[in-house]
Amino acid sequence: MADGDKIRILIVDDIADTRDNLAKLIGFEPDMEVAGTADGGQAAVNMAKKERPNVILMDINMPDMDGITATEIISNTVPDAPIIMMSVQGEQDYLRRSMLAGAREFLVKPFSADELINAIRHVHELEKVKRARYAQVAPQAPAPGGPVAAAPVARDTGQIIAFFSPKGGVGRTTIATNLAVALHQSTQKPVVLVDGSLPFGDIAVILNMSPKAKTIADLVGSFDNTDSDVLESVLVSHSTGIKVLLAPPTPESAELIKGEDIKRVLELLRERYAYIVVDTWPSYGEQVITMLDTSDVILTLMTLEITSLKNVRVFMEVAEKLGYDDNKLQLVANRNDSSGGIKASDVEASLGRKIPHTIVSDGRTLVLAVNRGVPFVISHRESQVAKDIFALAGKLAGAQEAASAATGAKAPARAGGMRLFAR
Ligand SMILES: Nc1ncnc2c1ncn2[C@@H]1O[C@H](COP(=O)(O)OP(=O)(O)OP(=O)(O)O)[C@@H](O)[C@H]1O
Ligand SMILES: [Mg+2]
Repeated sequence: MADGDKIRILIVDDIADTRDNLAKLIGFEPDMEVAGTADGGQAAVNMAKKERPNVILMDINMPDMDGITATEIISNTVPDAPIIMMSVQGEQDYLRRSMLAGAREFLVKPFSADELINAIRHVHELEKVKRARYAQVAPQAPAPGGPVAAAPVARDTGQIIAFFSPKGGVGRTTIATNLAVALHQSTQKPVVLVDGSLPFGDIAVILNMSPKAKTIADLVGSFDNTDSDVLESVLVSHSTGIKVLLAPPTPESAELIKGEDIKRVLELLRERYAYIVVDTWPSYGEQVITMLDTSDVILTLMTLEITSLKNVRVFMEVAEKLGYDDNKLQLVANRNDSSGGIKASDVEASLGRKIPHTIVSDGRTLVLAVNRGVPFVISHRESQVAKDIFALAGKLAGAQEAASAATGAKAPARAGGMRLFAR
């Protein structure tokens, strides 16, 4: 293997024996090499800037600058270098603080050679995937002689609100469904819920819909000829007063739907519905990115846990490349008070971003509502979790009203930016 292809590793530990041992283990791997060693946090920061290693192994307890502070500085100044923390057992709090500082992995000392090598390969691979994704991001070509960013277009059409989270099981489907109903109840305007979780959609189950109901898959083969009326014919009416566009019945049929088909469907729905609420699934593939691109607001659901935080950080980087501004990407902390999590203020400090919306944890109400087959914003309207959803609906509807009042029409879909996929 050519030297230039090797994974270059910076070793940071104040104990010389540990540095030597780690260097020896790395030396056995044909695809890895030691880029340098440092005996303290400050030396690590300097060395990381100079050597630009592919991976950094970082001890926590060191005399001058500790490993967490060094990690914080390096993740901001040399963001391409993923950091693996190393610490002795029982330091739970360190794990939490390391992840908040931007570390990608955590090895508990003593660890085996396999654990070390696997962790290095793992973070290096993830970094490569991340970079490959960014490489696809090409600046949107400006119209000849035209402005770089598209001027906001005033349009009197519906608002598309997508629910995204880079991690599964955080409550997207539950919250999206209840928000759609709450928006309809509080504004009395037409609302459509789109099950954009194309391969895994479960809104049909949650809303107790017939297995024979029409789905978006009924449009496969005829998307180009689909107009508002045709689209309306595959929407399903729900007893709550909202309409639903269901996901395909099988993952195979989901694969037949292209990004451009999704864009067309969403744009058509804008013409008739005041709010289009879109559920998605954790993917950076073309289908989901198109949903996010086409949306006005992306509610990024997260739970206040370290793993969730790490993934949201990566998504925020992707979103920035895509040109989504702070109004478009809004964080929502779900299950806000469930035990074992991190404080919202710590998360905000770590992400450098406010979490404007929170939803309490209330498993009991959710289970009761599911058993009754009714969204909890209807069956348990007085519960705190329902109130949180109505508050979110109020903020979204209020913002739209304000935008309409200001421009004489509704808020524009997007203001230029970059795209992952050329269309
Ligand atoms: N605020 C909450 N309080 C208590 N439980 C919640 C809350 N929000 C969601 N849940 C529960 O979390 C679980 C996952 O929710 P849901 O299926 O909506 O998540 P999802 O992000 O759509 O998951 P998937 O990745 O599988 O699509 C469900 O059991 C749901 O009842
Ligand atoms: Mg879901």
